[in-house]
Amino acid sequence: MSQEHPTALLQIDGKSIELPVLTGTDGQKAVDVSKLYDEHKIVTYDPSLGSTSVCQSAITYVDGDNGILRYRGIPIEQFDRPSPNFIEVAWLLIFGALPTQDERDEFRARMTKHQLLHESLREQFGNVPPGSPPMAILSAMFSQLACYYEKFLPLGDEELFVEAATRIISKARTIAAYAYRRSQGLPFMYPDPALRFCGNFLHLMFSLPYKQYIIGQEIEDAMNLVLILHADHEQNCSTSTVRIVGSAQANLFASCASGVSALWGPLHGGANVEVMKMLEAIYNGGMTPEDCLKAAKDKQNPFKLFGFGHRIYKNYDPRAKILQTAAEKVFSQQKTEDPLLDIARKLEELALKDPYFVDRKLYPNVDFYSGILLRAIGIPTNMFTVIFALGRLPGWIAQWKEQHDNLNQRICRPRQLYMGEMEANYVPIEDRE
Ligand code: CMC
Repeated sequence: MSQEHPTALLQIDGKSIELPVLTGTDGQKAVDVSKLYDEHKIVTYDPSLGSTSVCQSAITYVDGDNGILRYRGIPIEQFDRPSPNFIEVAWLLIFGALPTQDERDEFRARMTKHQLLHESLREQFGNVPPGSPPMAILSAMFSQLACYYEKFLPLGDEELFVEAATRIISKARTIAAYAYRRSQGLPFMYPDPALRFCGNFLHLMFSLPYKQYIIGQEIEDAMNLVLILHADHEQNCSTSTVRIVGSAQANLFASCASGVSALWGPLHGGANVEVMKMLEAIYNGGMTPEDCLKAAKDKQNPFKLFGFGHRIYKNYDPRAKILQTAAEKVFSQQKTEDPLLDIARKLEELALKDPYFVDRKLYPNVDFYSGILLRAIGIPTNMFTVIFALGRLPGWIAQWKEQHDNLNQRICRPRQLYMGEMEANYVPIEDRE
């Protein structure tokens, strides 16, 4: 067995099968079972994919044991700087390197050019019932973009990809804000080309026809930071969904729409809403922090301590730390406070002392403090997961592109272990018991 090409031996039914072992740049070993079925008619079993690498990727690195997150090798903490820039991070993730000044300016100009929605798409917002969940609207509108930009759907052309990617990122901000305006019965504002990405989003959310929203620099920076911290997180549930859908050569709009649907789930991006409901229930006297922990530990109770635990992080999620500090900074700049922040801190303190959470290595994740920062920015709770989606969009696009650029990529088609009846007979309805 040579060191350069290590192999693993699988012994099964008296047969010995040699399998190649791949090694990631971080030293992670992966047994390559991709030919196991074709050559030996054996499958592996890993229902929630906890031990399975589904792709090779060079976009985002997570070391869950040590609480490390890097985009294209750059530690996430380095993006927490004065005037952080989401558009720059989007470029970095999608195209693989930080943009030059010219690239950033051109990307920004393209974003500005495509920020408007087609008027008939804008009218669609009037057809959804008031109070509709904004995530449902976001997913539907992403799909509908394909109706307006059919010429950008063909795969394999870099310029068409850039056109589609720029449109979806830029229009997502307008769609997200309109979903909110519709839920409030407020008139839709047109984007302002003089504003940057996040400032424009805040304008679309909060300006009124007779009163321009004044965007504080600290609020615009906080919004940028939230989007940056959510921009990618390797093969999470929604990103894997985007990749699976994309592997069928579905277009970028359809693939991203599927990502929105996956993200909506309360175990994924929807957790930020659940955290807020939990903190509000404690604040309103509906439960104490101790009740909350007790319910989360009770295996008969489906309740979870939302914003805690992670498939990969067995340590503090680095994004949670940055978000907590950013929320404290915004409160101090605005000379305000939020009682929910104290409740969150108390819950964290109790959980981090409790053997249930300590033994299972459950720490605050990105969703634990993001809602508190979003509240400080003025974002209502029903928009939290939409903001997560807006932030995650460059990650979905980058991962979709990486997969499409791999000419060896086949359609994703997992196998199953069949446990049903091997053969049964159809019984006419009158003979059924
Ligand atoms: N509250 C109570 N128990 C928990 C929690 C929690 N938040 N998280 C994990 N556990 C328990 C879990 O029941 C299991 O217990 P046991 O060993 O007795 O069966 C043990 O901890 C280990 O869980 P796991 O295998 O590490 O969890 P998982 O990988 O299956 O699920 C998770 C990960 C994020 C879905 C889960 O931790 C969870 O439901 N957390 C609450 C929801 C949440 O905050 N989601 C956001 C995740 S981060 C951002 C994102 O992905 O969108």
